[in-house]
Amino acid sequence: MTIQWFPGHMAKARREVTEQLKMVDVVFELVDARIPLSSRNPMIDDIIKQKPRVIILNKKDMSKQSETDKWMQYFKNQGFFPVQIDSKHGKHLGELMKAAQAATKEKFDREKSKGLRPRAIRAMIVGIPNVGKSTLINKLAKKSIAKTGNTPGVTKKQQWIKVGKELELLDTPGILWPKFEDQAIGKKLSLTGAIKDSIVHLDEVAIYGLNFLIDHDPEKLQKFYQIELAGDDEVVDLFDQIGKRRGMLKRGNEIDYESVTELIIRDLRNAKIGNYCFDIYDEMKDGLYETKEH
Ligand code: G4P
Repeated sequence: MTIQWFPGHMAKARREVTEQLKMVDVVFELVDARIPLSSRNPMIDDIIKQKPRVIILNKKDMSKQSETDKWMQYFKNQGFFPVQIDSKHGKHLGELMKAAQAATKEKFDREKSKGLRPRAIRAMIVGIPNVGKSTLINKLAKKSIAKTGNTPGVTKKQQWIKVGKELELLDTPGILWPKFEDQAIGKKLSLTGAIKDSIVHLDEVAIYGLNFLIDHDPEKLQKFYQIELAGDDEVVDLFDQIGKRRGMLKRGNEIDYESVTELIIRDLRNAKIGNYCFDIYDEMKDGLYETKEH
């Protein structure tokens, strides 16, 4: 479902998360491991403030491991507690528990020293649409919790889900808006399925994806679509080659560019060609420390 984020929706989403924050010891900020930076809400630090934060790089099964490791280190250096998991297949959830404990240790030690009884850690999940919030809640709950719908402002009575003895999780995630302002980010969000198709021009997304493959994995690109890259190829030549190979032709033997576009996007979104991280740490790192992301 596509969300139209108007300023009013953003303000309301922010208010709701701020309200929920009061109830928890730690925030689980969920991002897509294929775009660990581009899938963050632009105001997340302002919203969460000093609350301990576990950053969950979800969908690790579809990302490139060496990049995920670099982003893990980056988040650690920022004072967060990062983990990489695969919610769909329920992998590495134990590490999430450990990170939640590490993130709340100070607070719980303080409570203990005051003679308070041990209790479960209270947590909530926040993130932009489609990063896997519902999937993770369901895995942790070990059952299917109704999805609220990606509609900011649709409230229902919140309940705590018990995850073993040590964690209680709010069953409603905080849904925040993605970054829209930057063209490249919009394309990355589309390539990973975080924003649905109407917001961006799909042909531009497919071109972005092909250029990414030309730059970072040309051999796989050739092999997967059985095409030849010549040094002076225009990207549009590749569309032609792929269209011909796959028989995506219209009447008069013209290439059906729409179908080729959809194919490329689908293959990248589903990690059919390979596992990629579209936020490349070494290309982005200089900007990271200069400006605060807003
Ligand atoms: P949201 O609540 O944050 O909006 O996201 P949601 O859980 O609905 O997940 C969005 C899509 O991402 C779903 O796919 C879900 O299966 C997939 N997903 C979530 N976590 C992971 C993960 O760790 N690895 C992989 N590979 N996929 C993950 P979908 O296509 O919308 O649905 P379906 O194909 O699962 O039915």
